[in-house]
Amino acid sequence: MMKSKRGVTILLAGLFATSAFAQTITTNSLVIHADQKGSTISRMIYGQFSEHLGRCIYEGIWVEPDSPIPNTRGIRNDTVAALKALKVPVLRWPGGCFADEYHWKDGIGPREKRPSIYNSHWGGVVENNHFGTHEFLDLCEQVGCEPYICGNLGSGSVQEMMEWVEYMTGDSDSPMANLRRANGRKDPWKIKYFGVGNESWGCGGNMTPEFYADNYRRYNTFLKNYGNNRLFRIACGPNDSNYRWTEVLMSAAGRQMNGLSLHYYTIPSGNWSRKGSATQFGEADWQATLKSALGMETLLERHSAIMDKTDPEKRVGLMVDEWGVWYDVEPGTNPGFLYQQNTLRDALVAGVTLNLFNQHCDRVKMANIAQAINVLQAMLLTDKEKMVVTPTYHVFQMYSVHQDATLLPSELKCEDYVLRDQKIPGLSVSASSDKSETIHLTLCNLNPTCPAIINGQIQGVSAKTVSGRVLTAAEMNAHNTFDHADAVKPEPFNEARIAANGFTAKLPPKSVVVLELK
Ligand code: AHR
Repeated sequence: MMKSKRGVTILLAGLFATSAFAQTITTNSLVIHADQKGSTISRMIYGQFSEHLGRCIYEGIWVEPDSPIPNTRGIRNDTVAALKALKVPVLRWPGGCFADEYHWKDGIGPREKRPSIYNSHWGGVVENNHFGTHEFLDLCEQVGCEPYICGNLGSGSVQEMMEWVEYMTGDSDSPMANLRRANGRKDPWKIKYFGVGNESWGCGGNMTPEFYADNYRRYNTFLKNYGNNRLFRIACGPNDSNYRWTEVLMSAAGRQMNGLSLHYYTIPSGNWSRKGSATQFGEADWQATLKSALGMETLLERHSAIMDKTDPEKRVGLMVDEWGVWYDVEPGTNPGFLYQQNTLRDALVAGVTLNLFNQHCDRVKMANIAQAINVLQAMLLTDKEKMVVTPTYHVFQMYSVHQDATLLPSELKCEDYVLRDQKIPGLSVSASSDKSETIHLTLCNLNPTCPAIINGQIQGVSAKTVSGRVLTAAEMNAHNTFDHADAVKPEPFNEARIAANGFTAKLPPKSVVVLELK
């Protein structure tokens, strides 16, 4: 039995005594406790990440004001509209590894006077700094999302980080606030989320947790709350299962932070030098990828348990500010640009991961998938003036019903998805109730060959209607291209019915389904 503290209890294997070879349809049961409300699912869990990496910022977002690609002040209109439609709540910037070599003063003032720098982390390309603080905050205003700025602790000074906060949020007659005004922005911006360094255990400085914790305390001391702006201070947290990092940070600096980050990437092969293709894979790769994605659950449970020791009230949020699938780059593309296609497999990874975040929303207060456009598990892919949305985009859109809703605890008894000597749970689910008491369930059938019957019981509410949408395709590697932009897209779901005390549904193999019960 796998047990999540506040989310879903999963009973695994053997319940339905089905042999791996006999599986043709699976039968599963679910109890939703609509009478026991959980925590709020912060909409920030549905956040995005945009780094100066490959074609995320340049091409994906920034095209210059004189571009033939329709834009507003240099920011392309199609990607903004797509992110807006996705209800993106928060966008992290400028990195990633790039953040710890980014000097913000290079990216302000007249664009033609800004210095060019060498992007040493990502492809060794020239970064002309045309997209800087003003452009990023303009982007956030156009999308309607909160900015999440990551400061440079690795190669920047305390003064530089302090002045950046003053530049953006200072409201008095001070040097940095006046510099901002001279650059055309009279009013201070509201900046809530501020990260103090990125991956300080690696590309951000190869620090020990003790050294970083001291540095965090020092830098954080000088990050001021100007006027009525209040920073939500995010310390660099661990990489996947580095539990010692969490122990040290929480005991040495827990009281000085509002959030601790966590990074975890899904690598299907588990081998960073041969990660595997985004589109050319078999069923064993499909299952291995989902198994790796499900590894997030252990990380959330164990890091959270460590945080509970010094923060039982759960004041400090676990901010999973980088996650997603990382494959080999598309053949023929710059290896430093991390450009990969996005298939139905990635939709399932997004579905199961978002269900886990929802289930752990008592501790997980933000997550930022890597990355929004043209990099890793992207929502959007662009090619010059063309843009296509990915299967992962559709999952984020379907799951947006959970944003700021109340988690409903649930118990899932599901059959395993067995392939040769490997098995994982066949289903994943999370449930919430929104302000109008409408219940939403997001369900994933991880099994690529067998449909799944779910007999759902809802305790405390008598639902009269059920409707839904489904994302699936004939092939595991189905994906959208610039020529076939709608190969994978959500369709109405007609396989759910109201039943005694709840509902029944039949999920197609390899599918993500959202149900609405009223
Ligand atoms: O998202 C790509 C990179 O992965 C980020 O720059 C870094 O923080 C992580 O290692």
